[in-house]
Amino acid sequence: MKLRNPFLTRGYAGSDYFCDRESETRKLLDAFDNDRDITLIAPRRYGKTGLIHHAFSRLPSEFTGIYLDIYSTHSLADFSSLFASSVIGALDSRIDSAVSAVGRFFKACRPTVVPQEDGMPKFSFDVVPSNAEATIKEAFEYLKSKDKRAVIAIDEFQQIAEYPGKGVEALLRGQIQLLPGVSFVFAGSHKHMMEEMFVSPNRPFYQSTQILSLHTIPCDSYAAFARRFFDRAGLPFDSAVFEEVYRRFEGITWYVQAVMNRIWGAGDGLSNVAQVDAAVKSLVEDQSDVYHDLMRSQSEGSRKMLRAIARAGAVRQPSAGKFVASAGFKAASSAAFALKDLRGRDLVYETDSGWVVYDRLFGVWLREN
Ligand SMILES: Nc1ncnc2c1ncn2[C@@H]1O[C@H](COP(=O)(O)OP(=O)(O)OP(=O)(O)O)[C@@H](O)[C@H]1O
Ligand SMILES: [Mg+2]
Repeated sequence: MKLRNPFLTRGYAGSDYFCDRESETRKLLDAFDNDRDITLIAPRRYGKTGLIHHAFSRLPSEFTGIYLDIYSTHSLADFSSLFASSVIGALDSRIDSAVSAVGRFFKACRPTVVPQEDGMPKFSFDVVPSNAEATIKEAFEYLKSKDKRAVIAIDEFQQIAEYPGKGVEALLRGQIQLLPGVSFVFAGSHKHMMEEMFVSPNRPFYQSTQILSLHTIPCDSYAAFARRFFDRAGLPFDSAVFEEVYRRFEGITWYVQAVMNRIWGAGDGLSNVAQVDAAVKSLVEDQSDVYHDLMRSQSEGSRKMLRAIARAGAVRQPSAGKFVASAGFKAASSAAFALKDLRGRDLVYETDSGWVVYDRLFGVWLREN
């Protein structure tokens, strides 16, 4: 299948449409080959999920890659049902062996079989809290019985910290330790939460994995990637203008992809900054209603803080008197309260250059409205 627009803004479509990440991919494959687990940390939209799929596409043939995104799970029961239904069948090449494995291993919660149009049926587990732990253990027993090499990537892993009840981390860690030949990738975007989980001595996953922090793709390698498509199509491509796209969005993958997707869509190549302005404008306009609603739902203090951070771009010292006053707060304590509130809801976060509005397009909108 030939894709029309080479700049994807979701999903993975093979290495032709995937830029660089060579050393990160090697690190992942090397870890899998040597039975190590990986913690993959990067802010949102840097390309964690894409990297997992890219590494999976290069797995040696004896490995099976299993991917699950636990963002929508809210309890151990949700997790168990997603985990069990993701692993079961993945390591069976025949329907009858999958069905018989289900019969042998899954006693706590009997799954229902959902036939698929082609190939393996899916197994759906309706796990309730009282059999969640048993179902997890059974899923691990099943994995162990297969004695095959696999990689299980659990995306949005920080979500498990939100589950009610204690002991989820310890339960998982305990099971993982007993499973040779299967490597895990724990990917997440909450740096603080992920680091707490994997580098605090009092947590079950303490020092149990190799930490891989994903940074932005280098600008020159991104430019070379983009240029290839324009050259092939006989369209102009000015590297300096690409650098402007990259600079405006700090090289964060999704924004670069989104802007380039629009520029490609316009069909005139990339030769001047006005094209970049137009692309950003159309992206922001598409979100404008959402941003209006978002602002309306904020408290007065949070609105002030959002505007002040957006105006500044990045704020190193949000408690400094000058910033607090310029943001329109009378007291540093109310500024601190607003910042904490915004951070708790992922509207702002702290980068190496200071506090920024998480969604960069929202930042652009705030500066203009
Ligand atoms: N190396 C890459 N080359 C080209 N496009 C990429 C690359 N990495 C990611 N992308 C694209 O960028 C977008 C964001 O990437 P991805 O979804 O992997 O980020 P993420 O870190 O998982 O984000 P989130 O935290 O929001 O889940 C996707 O559209 C993806 O297709
Ligand atoms: Mg992701």
